[in-house]
Amino acid sequence: MKSDAIPLAPLPLTADQAETMLQRQIKKHHVAIILLHWFNAVTWILEVATGAALVSSRLFRVTPDWYLAILNGLFGTRGNLLRFHVALGLVWIGVFLVYGLFGFRTYLRGEVLKKEIALDRDDVRWLVVRALRILGRSDEALPLQGVYNAGQKLFSMVVYAMLPVVMGTGVIMAFRLFSPRVVGWAVVLHFAAVGAVVAGLVIHVYMGAVFPEEKPAFFSMFTGTVDELFAYNHHFKWWREVKMEQLAWGRQREPAAEAVSMEAPVSGEEAAQEPPG
Ligand code: HEM
Repeated sequence: MKSDAIPLAPLPLTADQAETMLQRQIKKHHVAIILLHWFNAVTWILEVATGAALVSSRLFRVTPDWYLAILNGLFGTRGNLLRFHVALGLVWIGVFLVYGLFGFRTYLRGEVLKKEIALDRDDVRWLVVRALRILGRSDEALPLQGVYNAGQKLFSMVVYAMLPVVMGTGVIMAFRLFSPRVVGWAVVLHFAAVGAVVAGLVIHVYMGAVFPEEKPAFFSMFTGTVDELFAYNHHFKWWREVKMEQLAWGRQREPAAEAVSMEAPVSGEEAAQEPPG
């Protein structure tokens, strides 16, 4: 295939082409990221569920009495609830430290973050057009998207910015570090940072687990792959990049394969049977 056979913008597909692309898979997530994502998701569910019950005083609370009664029944005392919340939080921080340490050069490289999180011009336009379309004020086609759409990138930005805050303030509160004033601020910041992530999570979980069009993305968080048709229709710029990479890889291999076949080692017996000249 030549590079000019890879279109610059999506072209209408024939039924056969669409069927072929539906059958072909493209790798999207590494197994380490899948495991980390689901560990993180389960941890967040448990931490938010227990943390919400911990925010309860005479002046301010975020959960109703019946919810507190259920958690009291499960954990026995508020002390146990707090111990569980802190212990799980520390395990979570430990796992992320290992990820940061070993994944630094792979998943946290500048170019990866630029591709997966930073917004480009198309992304900014995408956010505007998406909002106008939801309000019924535009029927303009959405700009082409990369490996993640602009909404997903915005959520990732919030997550990457807030996780260190949640972790740092959690450790300060758990070990009463520095002064009571610092601990007091840590309480407020912890709550605000968790709130920002949870606000984004409502949309993230809806888009990921419920929104029918995004089903292939949901399953990709288990299998690691999406079908080419989904990539072509929803993440065209990424689909194009993958195709160009495959092309470059194929070209690199062709001369190498030729060289190998020309230089194939010949055994003594075969050499003896070869016609002279
Ligand atoms: C039950 C809860 C969750 C569900 C159903 C869910 C679903 C998904 C899905 C389907 C994707 C893949 C999107 C795609 O490939 O286009 C994804 C990616 C992602 N999710 Fe979640 N998620 C959940 C919880 C969370 C939580 C709690 C966080 C963080 C606090 C989170 C952060 C992320 C991030 C950062 C990505 C991008 C991953 C990457 O860099 O490859 N998710 N999620």
